[in-house]
Amino acid sequence: MSVLPPVGRLRWTDVPAPLRARLETALGAPVTNVSTPAGGFGHQLAAALTLADGRRFFVKAAPSGDPLTTANLHEGAVLDALPPGAPAPDLVGIHHGAGWTAVVIAHLDGPHPDLAPDSSDPDQIWGLLDKLTSSPAPTAYTEAVATTPSGAAGLHGWDHLLADPPGDLEPDVRNRLRELAALEAAWPALAHGDHIVHGDLRADNMVREDSRGVTFVDWAHATTGPACIDAVSLAPQLILAGHSPQTIARLLDEHPATATAPLAATAFLAALTGHWHRNSRQPAPPGAPGLRTYQHRAATAGMALLAHRVN
Ligand SMILES: Nc1ncnc2c1ncn2[C@@H]1O[C@H](COP(=O)(O)OP(=O)(O)OP(=O)(O)O)[C@@H](O)[C@H]1O
Ligand SMILES: [Mg+2]
Repeated sequence: MSVLPPVGRLRWTDVPAPLRARLETALGAPVTNVSTPAGGFGHQLAAALTLADGRRFFVKAAPSGDPLTTANLHEGAVLDALPPGAPAPDLVGIHHGAGWTAVVIAHLDGPHPDLAPDSSDPDQIWGLLDKLTSSPAPTAYTEAVATTPSGAAGLHGWDHLLADPPGDLEPDVRNRLRELAALEAAWPALAHGDHIVHGDLRADNMVREDSRGVTFVDWAHATTGPACIDAVSLAPQLILAGHSPQTIARLLDEHPATATAPLAATAFLAALTGHWHRNSRQPAPPGAPGLRTYQHRAATAGMALLAHRVN
């Protein structure tokens, strides 16, 4: 039986039969069940396959002209190059067929972590981030990401909003447009560094297993950069999960990844919030129905945090 994916996601049966057959041969048994976890906004196949012998694998697949195929190949290279002990699943293999590419990843069994204030998951996640960013990225990883431009470094939005302020901008945001655009403009020069950056840390890009706790998944945006990127990205997610902006602002003030580079952290938070603010006003892209609503909420959380950092 197959569980239908969320609206917009490709299904296992959308994958051309020759590639499905190739995967079953490579994995050593027929696929008997396919389930698509909730989470994410992508349109590609991203599903857990159960084989006739009970083993499970996670597979991401898209046609070769699809930008997500490039992203999936990047993720495969990153998973292969992350240092031992990194909070990431193992790469199992990469397969091509009928103009499609599938990246097969070790399956993690569990829900997304709970980022709410009464959960112990946020502490564990901060601990994983500390470990990931406490030393420079190893050479194999740096080489794996070298040819892919950093998505985080290119984030912006306030420049557009300043040039053409939308009528629905809240007065406190409108009054600060110039200041926010200036902060964001400082970001590209500060965006370089030699740390591992996941680049898209949200609860739905993490899985919590009973046996080994939280693991980060969806390494498609991984890059190198300053240690602050993932910590700053995580902060608005915690506000969305119910933490007060004040608590999270204090946490960023004290956390080594952000305390050691406060200007970079604030500039990145401004760029990320500007990106959310601008993009939440764009028409919804096909196959990603919840994206604009999420960006709107995230922009509000980012602004709440910025208010603490720029005052
Ligand atoms: N190795 C894994 N084992 C089990 N579940 C996983 C694994 N990797 C990802 N998932 C689950 O599948 C969902 C989609 O995977 P992933 O985020 O990698 O795909 P995506 O299409 O790149 O997502 P996005 O839309 O966020 O870009 C995740 O939210 C997570 O719940
Ligand atoms: Mg994802």
